[in-house]
Amino acid sequence: MLNKQDNEYLCRIGPGTPMGDLMRQYWIPAIRSDELPEPDCAPLRVKLLGEELIGFRTTTGEIGLVQNNCPHRGASLFFGRNEEAGLRCVYHGWKFDVAGNCVDMPNEPAESDFKQKVKAVAYPTRERNGVVWAYMGPRQTPPPLPDFEANMLGEGSYSISIIHRPCNWMQGWEGEMDTAHQAFLHSGAVRVEQTRPGTFEHYIAKTPAPLLSVVDTDFGTSYGGSRPAEEDTTYWRIAHMLFPFFAMIPTGAMGHEVRFAAYVPMDDEHTLHWEIGAEIPEGERPAGATRARRGARAAELYRPNTTDWYGRFNMIQDSSNDYLIDREAQRTWKSYTGIDGVRQQDMAVTESMGPIMDRSKEHLGTTDALIIRTRRKLIAAARALRERGVTPPGVDTPEVYRQRSGGVILPRGVDWWSGTAELRSRFSASASREPTRSA
Ligand code: FES
Ligand SMILES: [Fe+2]
Repeated sequence: MLNKQDNEYLCRIGPGTPMGDLMRQYWIPAIRSDELPEPDCAPLRVKLLGEELIGFRTTTGEIGLVQNNCPHRGASLFFGRNEEAGLRCVYHGWKFDVAGNCVDMPNEPAESDFKQKVKAVAYPTRERNGVVWAYMGPRQTPPPLPDFEANMLGEGSYSISIIHRPCNWMQGWEGEMDTAHQAFLHSGAVRVEQTRPGTFEHYIAKTPAPLLSVVDTDFGTSYGGSRPAEEDTTYWRIAHMLFPFFAMIPTGAMGHEVRFAAYVPMDDEHTLHWEIGAEIPEGERPAGATRARRGARAAELYRPNTTDWYGRFNMIQDSSNDYLIDREAQRTWKSYTGIDGVRQQDMAVTESMGPIMDRSKEHLGTTDALIIRTRRKLIAAARALRERGVTPPGVDTPEVYRQRSGGVILPRGVDWWSGTAELRSRFSASASREPTRSA
């Protein structure tokens, strides 16, 4: 459990909060490229770390991310005219470029230099493989983008899905750390006899509760959840929690695909859950790596996006309809939860904790070891930054993000961490740091 004070410290991410300052050290996935599909298209309302921002794509394709309220008298730049490499406020015509400079002030005398004195808050962005990253931190020159393999494999090989989760980011992130729920929430209705011997599913059904081993790493924390496989082997599910809110969970056999999640806070009570995956080119997969399970991400699962601050990426199944729970399916063991969809099952349990869970009321057990370790590490890093100016893990070392997660079968007795070192860090030769657009 966490006392109320630590819980607040951990969860609140607005400007000036310790955790908000920590997150602002990092590049943050802010916009999916297709939300700003073409030059001079309609601006986008973007809520990020408790700030109201407007995203726009300029005539030359750069992405701007500026404060919502016009520096003149506060009209929303959402209504702005996106034209000729800048966003023009429709109230009195002030125009801002991607750096927040006021480049035109048509309601002032031509000889006035007032526009030189006005600047809008504007955050640098970089666009890489369908993701617009934003840097909201204090540095003049931002750090490098993190080396996430799934965001670096070329055009056409990747997929990006986003789900709006109306709860605190930490609840979602903790769900990713929790390997033990897989056997209940997602596959509690699967009986051993329904599974094929020799498969991961079979091992999970045979031994619902994994033994957990947790390690501290230079990017955050990792766990190996183990279950007996065959007589002389062990099945390990290996996952990583990467600072400040990223996760790589075991979605299949390690080495077939690469995937990471990000729990990006819109504000304290709303989160965008990103999932970015890419298939590793065939010739570069380790022998025996089988196709990983991919989550269904059909467009029909979503409500149409609206222009509301919270109007992006809302699923049809949500708390207003109890995630369309089917009690009959639950009663007859067709489904453990009666809720269709792995992510919707995750949503139901984490959102039902309330907008910000009161962790002083919880009772943590042995399978919560990673959650305990990661919370402590995060709070310690936020404290070290605040009190001693210590840069948190991974900010200046993009290469630590070159990790893979997944399931592996190891001979009994082999150490899971050192035994998978080569497999985990096998960075695809096709992944490169380019191309990236900056603004
Ligand atoms: S409020 Fe934007 S130009 Fe006046
Ligand atoms: Fe889950």
